[in-house]
Amino acid sequence: MRFDGKNLIVTGGAAGFGRQTAIDAAKRGANVIIIDRNIEGLQEVVAEFPEYPIKAYKMDIGKTAEAEEVLNKIIDDYGQIHILINNAGIPSKKPLEELSEEEWDSVIDVNLKGIYNTCRIILPHMKKFRYGKIVNTASVAGKQGGGLLGTCAYAASKGGVLSITKCLAREGGPFDINVNAVCPGNFPTAISKEMIGEKLEKYLAGLCLRRRGKLEEVSNVILFLASDLASYVTGECTDIDGGQVMD
Ligand SMILES: NC(=O)c1ccc[n+]([C@@H]2O[C@H](COP(=O)([O-])OP(=O)(O)OC[C@H]3O[C@@H](n4cnc5c(N)ncnc54)[C@H](O)[C@@H]3O)[C@@H](O)[C@H]2O)c1
Repeated sequence: MRFDGKNLIVTGGAAGFGRQTAIDAAKRGANVIIIDRNIEGLQEVVAEFPEYPIKAYKMDIGKTAEAEEVLNKIIDDYGQIHILINNAGIPSKKPLEELSEEEWDSVIDVNLKGIYNTCRIILPHMKKFRYGKIVNTASVAGKQGGGLLGTCAYAASKGGVLSITKCLAREGGPFDINVNAVCPGNFPTAISKEMIGEKLEKYLAGLCLRRRGKLEEVSNVILFLASDLASYVTGECTDIDGGQVMD
């Protein structure tokens, strides 16, 4: 699983799964472009791994005009984008009665419209080259109606990610573009920091593998789907959850 000569964008690259995927892709030969709204986090990743070709671009994926400007700049800088990993996301944990319109809108804007914002620029670009791999980070919440990390806004946004993945697989297929998604269970990143103690133990007891996953166990699957090894896989939504959801 090598990415030599491949230019790979990962959104939410300043932390969590995005940071891990960026580092693992760079180790496997990719030129990595990390996008995030957290500029300090981006700079830390670049500074921590000076040996790898990782470049950072500040962007809020929920903002259509900003995304267009930054992604067109990246295309100018790199010439061709081979791989897009739509990973950035935010949680939402309030029951419907307490969920404000503002929170609903921001969760949908980042988690779902963010994929529209990146793909509307990158998919036509990939079509010109007749090559592309897109991997979207959904969640088991998108299949199960929420649960651990999210309530209705989060679950609806991730259900939407599963649908847009299948739709873009149809649109990209005739141009040799693969579009897939991953559905992680619960992992130790910033957005699941309250998953501790009894709550965590109960969760782990319900998993076939009875243990918490590691971040590289997510990035391994993302990168497999982004690689030429998965050339005949498209429109697929792969669970990475130790056996939480089995469908
Ligand atoms: N951690 C889990 O248990 C878990 C489970 C299932 C799915 N997910 C999904 O995985 C993805 C990554 O989450 P994580 O756990 O690594 O979280 P994280 O909070 O560690 O990282 C998310 C990154 O996305 C960035 N980000 C958030 N909003 C942004 C925006 N509008 N524009 C640009 N960047 C933005 C943040 O700054 C952060 O660097 C998310 O889509 C999340 O919903 C996480």
